[in-house]
Formats: sequence, structure tokens, C-alpha cells
Amino acid sequence: METAVRGKIAVVTGASRGIGKAIALGFAREGAAVVVAARSESARDERLPGSIHETVAEIEKHGGQGLAVRCDVTDEAGVTAMVETALETYGRIDVLVNNAAIDFPFPVTEMPLKRWELVMRVNTTGPFLCSKAVLPAMIAQGRGSIINISSQAATERGSGTVGYSAVYAASKAALDRFTWALAAEVGKHNIAVNALKPAGVVDTEGMRLWVPQEERQGWTSPAAMVTCAVFLAKQDAGGVTGTVAVDDEYICWHGLKVSEDT
Ligand SMILES: NC(=O)c1ccc[n+]([C@@H]2O[C@H](COP(=O)([O-])OP(=O)(O)OC[C@H]3O[C@@H](n4cnc5c(N)ncnc54)[C@H](OP(=O)(O)O)[C@@H]3O)[C@@H](O)[C@H]2O)c1
Repeated sequence: METAVRGKIAVVTGASRGIGKAIALGFAREGAAVVVAARSESARDERLPGSIHETVAEIEKHGGQGLAVRCDVTDEAGVTAMVETALETYGRIDVLVNNAAIDFPFPVTEMPLKRWELVMRVNTTGPFLCSKAVLPAMIAQGRGSIINISSQAATERGSGTVGYSAVYAASKAALDRFTWALAAEVGKHNIAVNALKPAGVVDTEGMRLWVPQEERQGWTSPAAMVTCAVFLAKQDAGGVTGTVAVDDEYICWHGLKVSEDT
């Protein structure tokens, strides 16, 4: 069943910059209160601008409601504390967006074990820990929506200049399968679980860090991802669930209209 986003409480991980920040702003524009969760309380590096407080300030500047909570998604105690803060502040959690992710695009032969393990911890264990932490509240409420931000790296081999690192591809393939399994597990509690991926490359601070200016042709804004995240936030197990798809597919299948106003 589809319901309005207005009045919902949404947790968005990795919302200090990039797609997560755009989704947080998009949810707030639709009238949700947004828990902005990431590690940066201030910009740590000029190549990676953005912080949880800047995102909340932007939400509030546009008349929305946001709460900045520092959280490392690999730290179980920190994730639990973030969810407790959200529940103490708003009393419920309706939507979780597992967006936080990292990549170290090195060949396997040059990849240190600790880098491999960190990518898997952020991209795969993080969504598990955040889902585990919000599910008791969603189950008690009798509805909820979990949105896993995945990547075509999970299923595409990569070609030309678009190669994927083995660890990133593996972590996102695991996230896709996690999405299916969790959707089946929590459907009886009326909770939707879906994965959403960009069809193309979205211009974000994280992408710019690894790709030189001359190779950035055809990059898009996060507008389509925001439109789809808003659509998926409205779902429960009676609506769209267990779907793993790119933004263009959700847009086509459900007749969504993308606004560039993100
Ligand atoms: N951009 C694309 O073209 C593209 C394509 C396919 C899929 N995606 C997916 O879309 C999502 C967003 O990508 P993006 O390009 O917007 O990335 P980005 O610009 O690098 O932003 C990543 C976000 O994740 C947060 N983060 C990283 N490690 C974290 C941790 N341990 N705990 C909490 N937060 C953490 C970062 O915040 P802090 O540093 O403040 O913690 C930041 O807010 C990711 O899941 C990515 O895999 C993106």
C-alpha cells in the first residue's frame, strides 16, 4: 500500500554528501523528518566536502525537519545509539535508507586485506547492522520501508573505462541478495525492502575523488535517485517489495516524474 511521505520519520545513512544528502533533502521537501547519519561533523578534507550538520542546516533553511546524528555504520554500538536517539526524538522510524558506502578501486593483487574488509564492513555489514537496529521499531509499528542503495557493479561486468573494483562489486552483489532475503523475512510484518541503483554515474563528491575531470562525461544529477527513493519510502509489504532495480526501471514501471529540483 502506498502512503504519503509527509509526517514519516526517515533515517538516511551517508547523508553528509552525495546521493544520501540529496535523498535526505528530497525526503524533507516532501514533509518527512530526516535523521542524517554519517561520520563527518565537519568537512575533513577539501576533496570531500559536507557534514551531517551542513545537511541538516540545508534541510532547515528550506523549512524542513532534520536531526544530525554522528554514526559509523560499521560500529554496532554506534548504530544502536543512533537509532535510540532517533526513537527518543521522534518516537518512530518509518524509513531506513542504507546509502553509506565506500570503494577502494585497486586491483585484487594490490588490495590490502584490511581495505577489502573495510569495504565489506561499510557496504554490506553496515546495512545489516542498521536494518537490525531499526527493525524492532518497524515490527512494533506494523509497517516500514527499507531502501538499500546498491550498484550495477553487483550484476554488470564493466566495460571500457567503467570497470568496477572486485571488492565493491562483491559488496553490492551481497547487498542485492540481502535485499531479497530480508524482504522475504519481514514481509509478514508489513515491511518493504527494496534495492535502488543509479542507471548511470551520478556526479557526487565520492565519484569525483576517483575519476579525473576529463573522464566525467555523461554524469547525471541525483534527481532520478531522489524521485525513486521518495516512491520507495511510501511502500510497505502490500506495495512494492523485494525489488532490485535501477532508477530508470522504477521510473518506467511506476510512471514516476523526475523533478530536477534537488
Ligand atoms: N555516485 C554513483 O554514480 C553511484 C553509482 C552506483 C552506486 N552508488 C551508490 O550510491 C551510494 C552513495 O554514493 P555517493 O556517490 O553519493 O558516495 P559519496 O559521495 O562517497 O558519499 C558516501 C557517503 O557515505 C558516508 N559513509 C562512508 N563511510 C561511512 C561509514 N563507515 N559510516 C557512515 N557513513 C559513511 C559518507 O559520509 P562520512 O564520510 O561523513 O561518513 C558519505 O556521506 C553508495 O551506496 C554508492 O555505492 C553511487
